[in-house]
Amino acid sequence: MELYDILIKRRSIRAYKNEPIPEEKLLKILEAARLAQSATNRQPWRFIIIQDAANRKKIAELCTGNKWAADAPVILAGVAVDTNYRMGNGRPASDIDLSIALTQISLAAVDQSLGTCWIGSFKYDEAMHYLKIPKDNLLVGFMTLGYPDESPTAKSRKPMEEIIFHEFWDE
Ligand SMILES: Cc1cc2nc3c(=O)[nH]c(=O)nc-3n(C[C@H](O)[C@H](O)[C@H](O)COP(=O)(O)O)c2cc1C
Repeated sequence: MELYDILIKRRSIRAYKNEPIPEEKLLKILEAARLAQSATNRQPWRFIIIQDAANRKKIAELCTGNKWAADAPVILAGVAVDTNYRMGNGRPASDIDLSIALTQISLAAVDQSLGTCWIGSFKYDEAMHYLKIPKDNLLVGFMTLGYPDESPTAKSRKPMEEIIFHEFWDE
């Protein structure tokens, strides 16, 4: 699929068919994350693939307001390592790098006729503990993955003139 078609087609999907994801599709989607850009190419990402039904149910319970996530055949946990690294501007890079990789996953998923939803609402400490993630890492977010069982209409976006300035900040 053309990149722009993917960008236009992608939606957050919160209802999934009870259908497993073929291994080759999953690998292709994870490869999209592996190829992502990152600050000084540190690639500070790890992905936990959660497929076991009991684990998915537990994670969904920890995702406040996101119980539907249990029905996705796969939940990915995006974990940042190397979290102390700061870019030249003084800002930490690892969660930005994770966001880029998860975005690539969300776009590659569309190309594989799959849907995703980023989940940022979860009980952080409990999820870290349940997934046995060492505390010096950062659980950036969960992403559900599966065949969509809904076709949501596009969410509105701010108009271009509100988000673009020329040459200088102008508000
Ligand atoms: C960082 C981040 C956190 C999000 N957290 C949640 C969440 O906890 N639960 C949820 O249902 N959707 C979540 N979303 C999905 C957004 O609600 C969704 O992207 C937004 O409403 C735009 O809709 P669209 O993705 O269909 O274009 C999150 C998205 C991002 C990027």
